[in-house]
Amino acid sequence: MCGIVGYTGHVQAAPVLLDGLRRLEYRGYDSAGVVVQDEGALKMVKANGAVSHLAELTGGGRALEGVCGLAHTRWATHGAPTDTNAHPHLSEHGLFAVVHNGIIENFAALRAELEAEGVVFRSETDTEVVAHLLERYYDGELKSAVMRTAARLEGSYVLGVVCAREPGKLFCVKEAGPLIIGLGVGENFFASDVTALVSRTKNVIYMDDGEMAELTPERITVYDRTGRETAKSVSHVVWDIEAAEKGGYEHFMMKEIMEQPRAVRNTIEPRIRGGQVEFEGFSMTREELESFDKIVITACGSAYHAGVVGKYVIEKLCRIPVEAELASELRYSDPIIDEHTLLIAVSQSGETADTIAAMRECMERGARCLAIVNVVGSTIARLADNVIYTHAGPEIAVATTKGYTTQLAALYLFAVWAAGLLGRAGGERYDGLIASLRALPSLVQRSIDLNVHVKYLAERWHELGSLFFIGRNIDYAAAMEGSLKLKEISYIHSEAYAAGELKHDTIALIDEKRLVVALCCQSALFDKIVSNIREVKARGAKVLGVAPEGNRRIFAEADDVLFAPRGEELFSAMTEIVPLQLFAYYVAAANGCDIDKPRNLAKSVTVE
Ligand code: G6P
Repeated sequence: MCGIVGYTGHVQAAPVLLDGLRRLEYRGYDSAGVVVQDEGALKMVKANGAVSHLAELTGGGRALEGVCGLAHTRWATHGAPTDTNAHPHLSEHGLFAVVHNGIIENFAALRAELEAEGVVFRSETDTEVVAHLLERYYDGELKSAVMRTAARLEGSYVLGVVCAREPGKLFCVKEAGPLIIGLGVGENFFASDVTALVSRTKNVIYMDDGEMAELTPERITVYDRTGRETAKSVSHVVWDIEAAEKGGYEHFMMKEIMEQPRAVRNTIEPRIRGGQVEFEGFSMTREELESFDKIVITACGSAYHAGVVGKYVIEKLCRIPVEAELASELRYSDPIIDEHTLLIAVSQSGETADTIAAMRECMERGARCLAIVNVVGSTIARLADNVIYTHAGPEIAVATTKGYTTQLAALYLFAVWAAGLLGRAGGERYDGLIASLRALPSLVQRSIDLNVHVKYLAERWHELGSLFFIGRNIDYAAAMEGSLKLKEISYIHSEAYAAGELKHDTIALIDEKRLVVALCCQSALFDKIVSNIREVKARGAKVLGVAPEGNRRIFAEADDVLFAPRGEELFSAMTEIVPLQLFAYYVAAANGCDIDKPRNLAKSVTVE
């Protein structure tokens, strides 16, 4: 949700800001804007559309002189994506410019108050109140104006502030949502994500809620809510800028699909020591684990789908009851959770607002929280009692691929670890599970290699009206993710259905125009899914089967087939999703969709 960047230093700010913005576009791409401070004035350019449009308008930023400024890429919440609603927003007399990520919940009251004082608003955004408040409270001291303004705001926000009268100085404030400070040499930065900073510095400070920072080219000062200076530790980003580049692929999504074998290996291998699963910074005794009477997995979007797979696998291996709950529902459900609940929060970004809120709700009720997160230092990682990092590297495409498969890898590791600790899988079974975990990276690679015909199938089926993904058990959980992948990037309606449930209602929608994707990788349920395939075929549907490599029976049932290599069946979601990711990609490509930036979406959803 919205990306912000700030720069103060010795080189022209706008090109640096635009470069940062390009790397944050996954957070929102409705409109973009940049402002720089120059000789006591603020120069601003903003426009509807992508960052590339803003770059054209400013000659790549060269047209805007000045060495200190802010930039923003927007995912609209208040007000349509128009030039006027684009950020930055200026105060009435042009003294302040503000960029904002989040929502100011009391903006209507503040706007009414300011309008009663005669302030004329230019935009429909919640953000504009911030600029006017800053100007109202500024008496020559920027810090106190920022503090007094922040004290008036309710909601979730990260703000970047620049004042025409304070050369080389920037402020940023964090109340919820990611904010990272970058420490350079004679230059300093802030941004919503490290990807916007790594081309210039790898030394970063992760800001906490309630903190604000003052940046000049030479100095960074962090303050707490009361204005007291706070000492912060500096972290070092371990990956290079190449990790956030397309590396020869047409889209980030394809690059990230292809990176999955390595990403899954990076999640699994460091956690297997001496033939056992071991997590760094996380351990538990058998008694502690036995003290939990249930596990609740909470997440949003694809991370929730990974959680549903996790539920099947953990229950099967550990015989502990597991619930997979959408975070946006869990947070308001008055959940039955106490100190005997182990909460597992799953999130690629570590910043998803609903997941954070659900965690807080459950942790207040006494749950111990283990987070499965990709982004190091993110809010969820810091809030949780323990973290398993997925080590997928930066994921830029809005549609997650390696984010999801590495979440699966972490959940599988957890399941095997817990089963071992509880004595539910020992001896040969345990060793077999470890071997199966270690085989996963090459099986994911095989899954890519086996399905070279997926492009041809996608091109054949790309003019689909609406389709169904069906499966049972783990196949059903994988079907949810396969269906989501297709609809989010190709805009084709699809639904995942538990195969046995189809006959109760949805079969009414099946006719000869329908394609049904049937996931058939659970051998014990193969005959059952075959019955469901026959039911839809009898009503004219075409069927695309996803079946284990070498399964010949599927050819007699399905019109076309995608393959998942054989391995431990409990882990099959990871291999069967790969051809479905590719299928979604090629359908979207055949339909000319913007694959990396699907309409209306954002990768990191930091609003409720
Ligand atoms: C957004 C993304 C999804 C993601 C979901 C949860 O909707 O587009 O790909 O699964 O948020 O994100 P998280 O970062 O918490 O995994």
